[in-house]
Amino acid sequence: KQYGTLFEAIGGFEKVSQLVKNFYKKVEVHPDLTPIFPDDLTETARKQELFLTQFLGGPPLYTEEHGHPMLRRRHLPFEITPTRRAAWLSCMNEALEEADIAEPYRTAIFERLSMTAQHMENTPEHEK
Ligand code: HEM
Repeated sequence: KQYGTLFEAIGGFEKVSQLVKNFYKKVEVHPDLTPIFPDDLTETARKQELFLTQFLGGPPLYTEEHGHPMLRRRHLPFEITPTRRAAWLSCMNEALEEADIAEPYRTAIFERLSMTAQHMENTPEHEK
């Protein structure tokens, strides 16, 4: 192949796995996110690992197990407000940093995830 994938560029399964671990450690304690995530994030993290592998151009593991991602639809049961989107992205930004993913890949990945996250928003901000 003439052009590699982001998945290969950052170091494949090992890096994605590290990234996902870092990410859910933050999600688990983020006050804006805990209300909508399950207490046990083991299965959530496992699915995210399959998904991100595929999202970054690696093998289509998520689709093999679950069919078409339809991410917006799968997120409809959860109220995803602008605050929650920002919280998700902030956890991911720190996780990318801690996984030591080199530029320009880190920014490229964050930008793609930001666009997808935008698409997941499905609820206006709550009154507090
Ligand atoms: C599942 C929240 C953005 C990928 C979930 C779940 C929640 C959630 C609550 C269900 C967890 C569970 O029950 O196990 C959010 C919030 C987001 C967001 C608040 C902020 C915008 C994203 C983005 C992606 C993504 C940007 C993709 C890059 C996934 C995947 C699953 C998932 C693959 C598992 C779906 C399945 O059950 O098969 N998310 N999410 N999410 N999310 Fe997100």
